[in-house]
Amino acid sequence: RTVGVILAGGVGQRVGLNTPKQLVTVAGKSIIEHTLALFDAAPEIDEIIVLMTPGFTAEVEKLVAARGFGKVVQVLEGGASRTETTWRALDALGPQECNVLLHDAVRPLLEPRIITECVEALERDTAVEVAIPSSDTVVVVEPGPRGDVVREVPERARLRRVQTPQGFRLSVIRQAYERAFADPDFGRRPPTDDCGVVLRYLPEVPIVVVHGSERNIKVTHPVDLHIAETLFRLGPTAVPPASGQALEGRTVAVLGDDLGAG
Ligand code: CTP
Repeated sequence: RTVGVILAGGVGQRVGLNTPKQLVTVAGKSIIEHTLALFDAAPEIDEIIVLMTPGFTAEVEKLVAARGFGKVVQVLEGGASRTETTWRALDALGPQECNVLLHDAVRPLLEPRIITECVEALERDTAVEVAIPSSDTVVVVEPGPRGDVVREVPERARLRRVQTPQGFRLSVIRQAYERAFADPDFGRRPPTDDCGVVLRYLPEVPIVVVHGSERNIKVTHPVDLHIAETLFRLGPTAVPPASGQALEGRTVAVLGDDLGAG
């Protein structure tokens, strides 16, 4: 059994609207509707749990009923932080072992291929992360007297940008979280994602990496709403796999058509 957990408990402060960003309409549907449609249609997913911003669960329940998303079994309120929201989901899952795929509601452009590869990876391993290479150089900074100063320039070839879903055997992610909440230091330095919790508290568990996609963006800032709209309009062929295969011809043709080029 594989359960999709849709993390939608945030308020979207950086997008800065009055409603959470996952309810904003992009390409004719709310962002969370795109995400739920994707999980509901995925053959590998048996059940879905949604964790929504407190005060907004009724909106999601209405949407689930209207669209007939039959795999959604629970709509719960999220917690004060992303990790607390994950913990609530794990708590709601009961004792029976299963696979859990935790996905950001605000990544509506996920490709079904990635869900398939995550579930396949969980046949052999107990933790899986989706990531893509970084095209930007990433540096480590420290505060200095006149602003940040660069302390380290990690080798770019070894760096990856993390996306979701992140997949686990339920017993593994649960044990990692139990240890995390027993650690008094956890609240001061919480990891920003669930693989970070597993790496810190169960370092012996290998976390395998599934190749993500440049399309699988997280709507974070206002500009991302425009980027997502454009990506939906261009369709799946517009952004080739980040590994580079199937590049030139097709991509250029799609973009060329869109721009009215001959
Ligand atoms: N999330 C969550 N519970 C929280 C905080 C975040 O479930 N308490 C979810 C968000 O709804 C989102 C995902 O985690 O789908 C990624 O987080 P982020 O982009 O940081 O969303 P927000 O916290 O809503 O954004 P901001 O930090 O700008 O407020």
